[in-house]
Amino acid sequence: MDKKQIEEMIDLAIRQMDFSYVPYSHFRVGAALLAKNGEIYTGCNIENAAYTPTNCAERTAFFKAVSEGVKKFDAICVVGGKEGVLTEYTAPCGVCRQVMMEFCDPDTFQIIMAKNRQEYRIYLLKELLPAGFGPADLV
Ligand code: THU
Repeated sequence: MDKKQIEEMIDLAIRQMDFSYVPYSHFRVGAALLAKNGEIYTGCNIENAAYTPTNCAERTAFFKAVSEGVKKFDAICVVGGKEGVLTEYTAPCGVCRQVMMEFCDPDTFQIIMAKNRQEYRIYLLKELLPAGFGPADLV
């Protein structure tokens, strides 16, 4: 990924926060998922009055892509903050990391946590989910 592509993903993730449905936490999260075919799938968090059906931004992006037949990915960008104000890096929750493990190579899949176009950190999935359990463990 070059700098231009990273900046495009950050912009898309930030824009997604406008669509976050967060009447309970008021914590907006946006995600932009880069597929190996070059397409970028976006996602926002969608909360629920019963709380547990809440879907994170990352999983929204993954499920949009997979539901359209796309299952190979290179990277995801995640941004988030209370009322959509980005002061800290937002890390993917454990459930989202496990969903990444299902579709991505932990040695190469990149997770970009961003505050803005200039401030971002890039991690590999294997760093955020060490010794993860994935599809290869079932064969
Ligand atoms: N959230 C995400 O969308 N992604 C994460 O990885 C962390 C948490 C959402 C879920 C909930 O709507 C809000 O942030 C507060 O937890």
